[in-house]
Amino acid sequence: MKYFDSTVISQSRLTDDIYVLVAERNGADAHAGQFFMLKAWEHELTLMRPISIFKADEHTLHFMYRVVGQGTRKLSGLKAGDPISLLGALGTGYPLDQAAGRVALVGGGLGIPPLCQTAKELTAKGVLVDAYLGYRDDLFAMEEFEPHCANIFASTEVGEEGYRGYITDLLTPEKYDAVYTCGPEVMMRKVAALCAEQKTPCWCSMEHRMACGIGACLGCSIKTADGMKRVCKEGPVFPANILFQQ
Ligand SMILES: Cc1cc2nc3c(=O)[nH]c(=O)nc-3n(C[C@H](O)[C@H](O)[C@H](O)COP(=O)(O)OP(=O)(O)OC[C@H]3O[C@@H](n4cnc5c(N)ncnc54)[C@H](O)[C@@H]3O)c2cc1C
Ligand code: FES
Repeated sequence: MKYFDSTVISQSRLTDDIYVLVAERNGADAHAGQFFMLKAWEHELTLMRPISIFKADEHTLHFMYRVVGQGTRKLSGLKAGDPISLLGALGTGYPLDQAAGRVALVGGGLGIPPLCQTAKELTAKGVLVDAYLGYRDDLFAMEEFEPHCANIFASTEVGEEGYRGYITDLLTPEKYDAVYTCGPEVMMRKVAALCAEQKTPCWCSMEHRMACGIGACLGCSIKTADGMKRVCKEGPVFPANILFQQ
């Protein structure tokens, strides 16, 4: 983990409010399910903002984010050549060292981007990956999963494409050695419950407002069956069985 000054390489707008920012990696570590704290302001905001690794190439880090407030609005205004401060990679990602056989990735909304780097790293280990991607309306980033996945299933709640309904309707955990999920808590609870019924190990990436991002302030602590845990340090990825009691 390191704090460093980086430079924006590109910024693209995917939908009305979803952007992809590419920054120089400067040799930082970056693994599936981890995140960086980002900052592109001096005075008006004090805290950095946590954004997951969407993709990590040899020299670049890609972040996909939705504009929801002041910080992400500032990020969306950055252009190629602008300075940006990064802290990371932070947190404990998906347990790729234990991964084998066939893994399902289940993402909802802005929980989808971190699963892209996860699919890439799993495939590099020889694991067979299926992606289940749940959208509210318009599809995004699906083509990024294609090189790394055997099958991709997509659903929309109100859109025209893919299965109409919830992505959890399509999931069959009994076909998998493990399921990794990221997205709204209500979706992850459902994924965890389906996995528990079939005794398929399930891992969830949790979100919490963060201040320091490095485990020092305890501001992101959550209650689990295994005691209090810091989302930024012990997480964001946790085994589902300590988060959600079935
Ligand atoms: C580990 C981690 C990884 C994340 N990865 C991504 C990602 O890849 N892409 C992405 O778009 N977002 C991601 N987020 C969420 C992102 O950090 C927040 O949307 C961002 O910090 C909001 O900052 P802001 O200044 O724009 O909004 P603020 O002005 O701070 O808040 C605007 C609104 O967003 C809500 N909000 C802010 N932070 C969070 C949060 N962490 N969880 C839920 N609601 C929040 C606030 O309650 C408020 O309603 C991640 C969060 C965490 C903890
Ligand atoms: S944000 Fe400070 S301990 Fe997690």
